[in-house]
Formats: sequence, C-alpha cells, structure tokens
Amino acid sequence: MQSTMDQQAESRHAGERHDGLHVAIIMDGNGRWATRRGLPRSAGHRAGVLATRRVVEAAPALGIATLTLFAFSSDNWRRPTAEVNALMSLLRHYLKAELARLVENGARLTVIGRRDRLPDGLSDAIAEAEKASAAGQKLDLRIALDYSARDAIAKAAARWLAEHPPSREAFGKLLAWDGAGADVDLLIRSGGEKRLSDFLLWEAAYAELCFVDTLWPDFGADELAAAVADFRARDRRFGGLTSVVPLVAAE
Ligand code: FPP
Repeated sequence: MQSTMDQQAESRHAGERHDGLHVAIIMDGNGRWATRRGLPRSAGHRAGVLATRRVVEAAPALGIATLTLFAFSSDNWRRPTAEVNALMSLLRHYLKAELARLVENGARLTVIGRRDRLPDGLSDAIAEAEKASAAGQKLDLRIALDYSARDAIAKAAARWLAEHPPSREAFGKLLAWDGAGADVDLLIRSGGEKRLSDFLLWEAAYAELCFVDTLWPDFGADELAAAVADFRARDRRFGGLTSVVPLVAAE
C-alpha cells in the first residue's frame, strides 16, 4: 500500500507535469548593466523590460506554463526615491504598452504582492491588464510587485488559523495570491548573485536552482532555453531515491 507521503510525492510530480513548468526568475543586474555603459540605472531597467519581453515570448515553446518574475521586492522601497519612482512608472508603462502583445500571445497576467502601497496609476494599469488578459491560455505570467515571501507566509499563516484541519496543501493554496501559485520547478537568478532575496520561499522548496552570471538586460530566449535544458537533465528526487533500495532485506 502506498504511504501518504508517497501519494503526496506522486501528486506533486503529477501536478508539475500536468500543464508545464513553473519557472521563477529573479531578474538581477539591470543597475550594473547600465553602470558599465556609463548610463543611469534607469536605462538598465528599461533594457530589462526588453529582456522580459524576450523571455515571456520564448516561455510557452519551452514547456513553461507559469512564469513568475520578481520585478520589485518589498525591500526595494529602500532604494532612492528617484529610482523607485522610475521603476514604478516603467512598470506602469510596460503594462500599458505590452498589454495588446501579451493578449495576442495568450498570456494571462496577474500581479502578486501588496497593492496598497503602489501608486494609483500603477494599480489601475494592473487591474486593467489583469482583466484584459484574463482569458489567456498559453502562459500564466505572474509579476511579483512589492512582494516579500516572508510577508506572504505570515499573511497565509493568519488565514490558516481558520482552516480545519490545516495541511501543507491548504497552506500552499492560501499562499497563492491568485490561486495559481504552484510549486516552482526551476528558479533562475541572473546577475551573478546566489541568493533567494525573499522570493517564493515556500513555493521553491524543491525548485532546481540556476544562478547565471548574465546580467538581466542581456538575458533572452537562448539563456532561458539553456536553463530549461539544464533543468531537464537534473534528477529530481524530492527527498526520495531514484531507484528504490529496500532498507531491510526481504525475508
Ligand atoms: C534588479 O536589478 C532589478 C530590479 C529591482 C527591477 C526589475 C525590473 C525590471 C527587469 C523591469 C522590467 C520588469 C517587468 C516585469 C516589466 P538591480 O537594479 O538590483 O541591478 P544591480 O544588482 O546590477 O544593481
């Protein structure tokens, strides 16, 4: 008879294979990309938007069903006001300018993270983009904005108190802002740093990690394809063993 844990592992595998990969990306390196060219950091963020477009458009053909992009962390409010304002207005511009293209490409856009601290213009653009792209079937594009995984976990824990009985699955669902926060299969970070920066800590429990030196504005379909190919060559055991070796000799 299968143990509950075997069944859980199997359903995790099944869920993962069902509709494609969930890839999460920490898009790091915009500032350094710009500084190296003698440009203001905002130029790096603008170049980052083009990299975002390349990756979003390459994703479905690589078997990616869900793409979660870390665009602004709750700790990024600590940056100089001018940079924060530039990022907010760039994101608003992205949502307005890319919307038709996203819809045409079958992307369903949702934003995860806090909304109450975002400028009104951006909140409105998010609501509009979410509504207009709601029927998208090719890619679940989740943009993490004013996002902190620790805050998300704390918020879900508060809601968890009402659950009877609590379970890992139920807690995971509470964490998913938009109901689509499946486990991350592959987490990529560009820009050479090797840390998670409070991104999807729960969902990435068994994610394969891929840290690349490429700065985000230089990232594109080829880099995404290489990361996915590397991911596919990995042996994912989820704490189990590839080939089951009996612990006790058969009688
Ligand atoms: C990190 O680079 C990047 C950010 C804080 C912002 C990410 C935003 C974009 C890529 C803009 C486009 C996003 C979307 C969703 C349209 P950094 O500034 O920390 O770079 P550094 O480490 O080189 O200083």
